[in-house]
Amino acid sequence: MVNAPAQIQDDNALSPAQTLWDMASDDMASVDALILERMQSPVGLIPNLGQHLVGAGGKRLRPLLTVAASRMLGYDGTGHHKLAAAVEFIHSATLLHDDVVDESALRRGKKPANLIWGNSASILVGDFLFARAFNLMVETGSMEALGILSNASSVIAEGEVQQLAALRNVSMTEADYMSVIKAKTAALFAAATEVAPVLAERPAAEREALREYGLKLGLAFQLVDDALDYGGFESALGKSVGDDFREGKMTLPVIRAVAVADADETAFWRRVIVDHDQTPVDLETAVSYLRKAGALESTMDLAKVFSKDAADALDIFPKSAWRDTLQNLAGFVVARIS
Ligand code: IPE
Ligand code: IPE
Ligand code: MG
Ligand code: MG
Repeated sequence: MVNAPAQIQDDNALSPAQTLWDMASDDMASVDALILERMQSPVGLIPNLGQHLVGAGGKRLRPLLTVAASRMLGYDGTGHHKLAAAVEFIHSATLLHDDVVDESALRRGKKPANLIWGNSASILVGDFLFARAFNLMVETGSMEALGILSNASSVIAEGEVQQLAALRNVSMTEADYMSVIKAKTAALFAAATEVAPVLAERPAAEREALREYGLKLGLAFQLVDDALDYGGFESALGKSVGDDFREGKMTLPVIRAVAVADADETAFWRRVIVDHDQTPVDLETAVSYLRKAGALESTMDLAKVFSKDAADALDIFPKSAWRDTLQNLAGFVVARIS
């Protein structure tokens, strides 16, 4: 077990409760109601399993981005609720599938659905949620928004498959890793923010800026997630620490530690990743090698660069409370512990 978190927490962490989540609470209540309504089905297993995941909470970060970006642009319709719910459905579907693939033991502080209902049920309900997302998108009548989110859906799947193909490949490069996280995570963040200017019928430059914001925020988010997989607390994360290690997943901290490994360390990484021969103490040893290489810190440093890029991308918009909080959210993402 990892006893102490690495130094990846920032004392200046914004309290998310006072920021975007508060500002958008009315919108988010509508989004949650829509999610609940559209999760219903006469096939009881679907709402039961769906509710297990959706009712466990989660940060609702991606739909929040859609709602807040729409508000920043002065959008005053209701289409953003549908798109935000669709975005969270896509995210939920990927989590159901991801926990089967990753064999995770904990999701949102609870047993993952597949450990209760089985892998087949989780995969099939994930498919249902994906399909429901498409129903919602169609209802908005925006072919462009549909195009953006359906493209993101296929890119996410590509990212997950690319990652699967790279499992236990100790030679995975930083470029390969960046390509995986851009696809599996940042693509949905980017789509979540890009659909707002589409819905609000804003000019191309604003669409580009919001896409850039989401993309960079998503890259920062996954880098932090990958650092927290070695340096976070299970109780705060609601996920198991060490999952990536046990799975033999090459994330940036490991890629960077492998790059500076001496002969003993190289032999260690080959055994635990390539041969997948692990004992319970190996995670602690891995963390010590990551620390020695400064790999968690350098991963966080890169996340901070992307976070700043994300905030800067919004500079083209007039200053407003929504813009400020979206920019502050970039700071929260790199200071998060959950
Ligand atoms: C988990 O995303 C999947 C990753 C991209 C790391 P979140 O950390 O946003 O999950 P929830 O929705 O808050 O549970
Ligand atoms: C997140 O990957 C990306 C998707 C779910 C598509 P992870 O495997 O790192 O996410 P967690 O850590 O299980 O939440
Ligand atoms: Mg996972
Ligand atoms: Mg992870």
